Amino acid sequence: MKTPEAQSAAATGDPDPAFRADVLACFRDSRRAIPARWFYDKTGSELFEAITDLPEYYPTRTETGLLKRYCGEVTEMGGRGRAVVEFGSGSSVKTPHLLRAVQGQHYVPIDISGDFLRESAAALAADFPGLAVHPLEGDFMRPLQLPDAVAGTPKLGFFPGSTIGNMVARTSLDLLRSMRETLGVGSLLLIGMDRIKSPDILVPAYDDAQGVTARFNLNLLHRINRELDATIPVERFRHVARWNDNYARIEMHLEALEDIDFTVLGERFSMAKSETIHTENSHKYGPRDARLLLRAGGWTTLHEWTDPDDWFALILAEAKPFQTAP
Ligand code: SAH
Ligand code: AVI
Repeated sequence: MKTPEAQSAAATGDPDPAFRADVLACFRDSRRAIPARWFYDKTGSELFEAITDLPEYYPTRTETGLLKRYCGEVTEMGGRGRAVVEFGSGSSVKTPHLLRAVQGQHYVPIDISGDFLRESAAALAADFPGLAVHPLEGDFMRPLQLPDAVAGTPKLGFFPGSTIGNMVARTSLDLLRSMRETLGVGSLLLIGMDRIKSPDILVPAYDDAQGVTARFNLNLLHRINRELDATIPVERFRHVARWNDNYARIEMHLEALEDIDFTVLGERFSMAKSETIHTENSHKYGPRDARLLLRAGGWTTLHEWTDPDDWFALILAEAKPFQTAP
């Protein structure tokens, strides 16, 4: 479900109030940044799917290879029969590998991109006739109410794609803790995390030769123009992807190519040449970083699988009861 505010805004044709607030805050502030979740309107979701097929974008095919190979082991480690709850499910193309192995009766895909979610959920339901699919449109950063139908069933959270990398450490901890709350003690979580590696591999993965990632990034400005009645001259921005070694993350920015004036919902703003809007972080995690992050969020690592180059990790963790410790 959308937030009540987003629902009533949609009913009157008004923009999503959370989107409006984030965009206005970005342009009113001197440190310009917009949360990456706003990339995913219908066009943004489709462009992300195109990214996953790019030769430079290794995460999707590496993680899919791990899922094909190791989902059987995940079920042997306690996953069998559980309800699968997927956070940021997108096209759900990776999920069939897990669902076939788990053989549960329920699948709850959660995503903020509502139309895309419903189409993907319908396609998946057609392929799994015995499975009850319960799509949930919403922001997984907010507390979520799972459908009553899965209340009594043990849960397996699924958070692939290294989407956790799109959050700063503080926010990713909030999310891991709220997942523990939503799924319950005793639940399992299968999470994908992209590893730290050479910027020679990382930067092209976020700045591909065909310019698809650039279109994905610039689509955010088109979305602002469309939904917030804005006049941003999109062609006067360029896509930038850079490695920030201190934070172990790829950053995406939109850089103004010249001094620019524009309006958003009637309010006037300007940006100077070379100023950027920070649109995405994609954090990368070493093995110990990943385990520490999970542990701090209430999840104990049970097992991890990686590819031969150690480019990407699939980690199975459990929400164990908390124990008193020194
Ligand atoms: N899981 C897929 C898609 C990853 S893309 C894969 O591994 O390929 C990230 C997905 O998370 C998108 O579908 C996007 O719409 C969704 N998403 C991003 N931020 C979100 C948020 N705050 N709440 C819910 N969904 C979100
Ligand atoms: C969804 N998320 C994990 C992707 C990533 O790699 O950070 C989004 C993306 N941004 C640019 N390319 C892909």
